[in-house]
Amino acid sequence: MIEVRNISKSFGDLQVLSDVSLDVREGEKLAIIGRSGSGKSVLMKHLVGLLKPDTGHVYVDDQDLCCASYERLRELRKRFGVLFQGGALFDSMSSFENIAFPLRYFSSLSDAEIETRVQDCLDLVNLSDVGAKNPSELSGGMRKRVALARAISMEPAYILYDEPTSGLDPETSNTINDLINQLARELNVTSVVITHDMHSVLEVADRVAFLHNQDLEWVGPVAEVHDCASPNLNSFVRASEYKIGDPSPTSPLSEPSP
Ligand SMILES: Nc1ncnc2c1ncn2[C@@H]1O[C@H](COP(=O)(O)OP(=O)(O)OP(=O)(O)O)[C@@H](O)[C@H]1O
Ligand SMILES: [Mg+2]
Repeated sequence: MIEVRNISKSFGDLQVLSDVSLDVREGEKLAIIGRSGSGKSVLMKHLVGLLKPDTGHVYVDDQDLCCASYERLRELRKRFGVLFQGGALFDSMSSFENIAFPLRYFSSLSDAEIETRVQDCLDLVNLSDVGAKNPSELSGGMRKRVALARAISMEPAYILYDEPTSGLDPETSNTINDLINQLARELNVTSVVITHDMHSVLEVADRVAFLHNQDLEWVGPVAEVHDCASPNLNSFVRASEYKIGDPSPTSPLSEPSP
């Protein structure tokens, strides 16, 4: 379980998070949504200790990331697989070496064990035969899946996905959404999905947290997202659904014509 307690974060004069608290429950799929620049990626980086809050605490399995030693933090980070916004693959390495990288760096597996693990991860994301290819030779959707294979290579307890479907066509996005659901099911991981893709939210999330004006304005079950008391969330959901052209009872596209 991840517990975020009253964290605030500023960069110079820019306050991004103000007194944010959130629980990520064991085994759930939590979507964190909000406008571009609302602080979703900043919040995600706090969950894994890549950023430290100015005030407040983040506990992972009861351990406070904010006061952890370098060694402790390194151990805790092994529990996380992170799919960074943009993928963050090394273009000079093959897909195989990209996935093997954390295993070589963080684990004591032998070369033969690494080879087996990398192939298993590639199989899981349905890219069994691209190990030899460099990321630059792959499509955007394939690159996301290689990055996902790397994120799961250390058998994490938590997977954090930052915009897993951005820049992908609807069909490829569906493949990624299916994979997120499949990995949650088969690997028993806890998933945090940062996105502005409402279709992805509805396909994947159990719960939704809406970041607005530096704080979580609404947190609740996905089934209540269309019927919540937050006008800002209502307008965010309407705008997202209008953009993807997915008519729903609350979408402007489904208004009856005069
Ligand atoms: N390391 C940093 N130094 C200074 N400012 C930063 C840093 N990281 C993020 N910011 C600022 O914090 C704000 C929130 O950024 P963040 O990347 O969390 O937004 P986001 O909600 O993820 O947006 P998007 O949907 O576009 O990815 C932005 O104004 C950004 O410029
Ligand atoms: Mg972001």
